Amino acid sequence: MVPVTADPLPRARPLAAGPGARAARRHESRLLFSARPALWALLRAGALAGPVRRVPRLGWLVTDPILARRLLTDHTSTSLLGEGGVGHLWAQVLGDWVLEIFDGPGHADLRARSRDLFTKATSQELVSRVLAPRLGRAGAELAGGGELDVADLSRVLVGRMVADLLGMDRGDDDAAFRALFATGERLAAIALGSTASTHLDPADVTAARAIVDELTVGVADGFATAPPDRLLGRCRELGLNLRETTGLAALLTVAGTETAASAMARTVALLADTGQHRRLGDDRSEELVEAAVREGLRVSTPAPMIGRHVTADIALGPARLRAGDRVLVLTHVADNAAGGFDVDRPYDPRTRHLWFGAGRHQCLGAALARAEITALLETLLDTGRGWRVVRRRYGRRVLIPSYAELTIAAD
Ligand code: HEM
Repeated sequence: MVPVTADPLPRARPLAAGPGARAARRHESRLLFSARPALWALLRAGALAGPVRRVPRLGWLVTDPILARRLLTDHTSTSLLGEGGVGHLWAQVLGDWVLEIFDGPGHADLRARSRDLFTKATSQELVSRVLAPRLGRAGAELAGGGELDVADLSRVLVGRMVADLLGMDRGDDDAAFRALFATGERLAAIALGSTASTHLDPADVTAARAIVDELTVGVADGFATAPPDRLLGRCRELGLNLRETTGLAALLTVAGTETAASAMARTVALLADTGQHRRLGDDRSEELVEAAVREGLRVSTPAPMIGRHVTADIALGPARLRAGDRVLVLTHVADNAAGGFDVDRPYDPRTRHLWFGAGRHQCLGAALARAEITALLETLLDTGRGWRVVRRRYGRRVLIPSYAELTIAAD
């Protein structure tokens, strides 16, 4: 038994007040409800449930940021390979070989070799090469008095990034990248019903396999021929084999498309709704833009929960989790306990970067996600005029809560 106890929490900063802050909270709440009413209800209940609570059918809910980190960094008592973990889902789609690289020594080895795939520097280079031309056109439209649907733009940008990472040549037409994004969305949607069980039915497995084949069609060729400064070439140089590279490519698409697009549009909306885009207009320091990106990620927490399977009895705060239990870490609740969106909120050592997870499975693409959001904000700020939301629609029945449309115009 590994004893784990909670430290007393420092006092949370109060919720940001004022009509802008209230509007921002209302829109975020509606967006969550529209995506998945059950998720909305779970997060609401989780916020009232205390730090860790057992719930019939779902297992343990963890909402306290420090306990969440303890659990996610406890690699001896938890796993994501058993029922409740994402590795369990993937093994059904990609095959049992995934179990060797999704957790345990095989995973540690793969992470060690892929450590430098997305550093801050390589991510910024990627964003400059792949996204800057399209962002430049969007910025010019906005500056020229046009309207811009940031939700659509985010999907197109992320689609462009995925095409580049997966070695696909899709030309320069936005429609091709929208379609690619939608393919990634279809794959992620197969996990929609996994909150209570990560067992997939055979029809879903077949559908998911067909999508993975479609998405990774260019991987074998890219793996053989891509130069070392491209992702597939780097995988080869790092000593990954073709099967690992193909699995990683599929995983990147699922993990890094909807999440990144969701955070991009929601951060733009949060800045407009709270009026804090004006603060950034007045102060373009790297620190403040970085804080806006961090706050956008914290408040939106695009991956609102993380599942784990308990493999050995463990004491977590007041609770005793038993081997075989399943756990849902409600990161959205843990991250939002500190209060509303506030670009002046200092870095919080309790949450750290919990929206990217924690421990060995912490997001591999975190630097890339930050670089993508930063590039979008910089583009909007470069117009020098601030922005207002003209129209918005929340996405319905989507795995990752997102805007279907977020049309803005210069202020
Ligand atoms: C705002 C955007 C993103 C968010 C909020 C996010 C969030 C997360 C979270 C919470 C995890 C941990 C899951 C767990 O512990 O079970 C994770 C893992 C992962 N993410 Fe991200 N992610 C984002 C963007 C990306 C991007 C852009 C990529 C790559 C292109 C990416 C690739 C991955 C991979 C490969 C993993 C699995 C890591 C492992 O199991 O070792 N993510 N992400």
